[in-house]
Amino acid sequence: MSTETITTHPIAGALGAEVSGIDLATPLSNSKTEAVRQALWDHKVIFFRDQDLSPEDHLRVASIFGDIYRVPFVKARNDFPDIIDIVKEPEDGDKYNFGGVWHSDATFDECPPMGSVLYCLESPPHGGDTLFVNMEAAYACLSDVLKAMLDGMVALHSAERNYGSDGYFTDDDQQSVSMNIEPSAEGNKLTEHPVVRTHPETGRKGLFINPIYTMRFKGMTSKESQPILDFLYDHAKRPEFQCRFDWTAHALAIWDNRCTMHFAINDYAGYRRHMNRVTIAGDRPR
Ligand code: SIN
Repeated sequence: MSTETITTHPIAGALGAEVSGIDLATPLSNSKTEAVRQALWDHKVIFFRDQDLSPEDHLRVASIFGDIYRVPFVKARNDFPDIIDIVKEPEDGDKYNFGGVWHSDATFDECPPMGSVLYCLESPPHGGDTLFVNMEAAYACLSDVLKAMLDGMVALHSAERNYGSDGYFTDDDQQSVSMNIEPSAEGNKLTEHPVVRTHPETGRKGLFINPIYTMRFKGMTSKESQPILDFLYDHAKRPEFQCRFDWTAHALAIWDNRCTMHFAINDYAGYRRHMNRVTIAGDRPR
């Protein structure tokens, strides 16, 4: 679709659009800013190619959506503490890939990020794509009875599996050559969120759970919760709810963390992939 200011080209049926007709290295006019925000509400993840951005430009693009969120547990760039370096070196082989599990960012936080802005500095010659799913489409395709059950439920989220005192990243073998991840007891805290959240911009309802940070349903045991969670993850990951982005150097993605999950594919052992991520602060899910 073409608006007065930008053009969007959907890349899949469920979500995702490439945006053209815009240079993000220059400050955007009010109408372009509004068009980019609307494109994100419409498509949930938007992509821009061939953008020549400095770290300051990257931060400015993120700031059109809100304040910047400081990512816990992951050491940021020394020169830009609001930017995390997501790097996989050839020496990391196939053992490690940041974001290589279905997730929404930092849902262990009381106010999880609204979104993230990921910029590709170097892409491998093949592979290293990112998958996204539309959690509102997944919710909409559940039966009315299951929707009604989930609507009143609360889930407990925690960073424990990844960043807690016994989490994945405490295993030295899992440390990447070039990323510095700092697990701690802070990661073991539990936070409550509704299982179905309403998007504050569009009013649409979507599932708000993910396999890495959702621990169980409030008022249910892990054993009771897990089969229902597993069903919901399998359902949400259906190919028709997905899109897939093939990175090229200087491409940029902005995703809405409130209604999507994403997954970084680990299929480029022996090659370097280098991304920078700026994360945008969000509000308390309702
Ligand atoms: C992330 O989960 O933030 C990383 C996604 C990616 O590198 O594709």
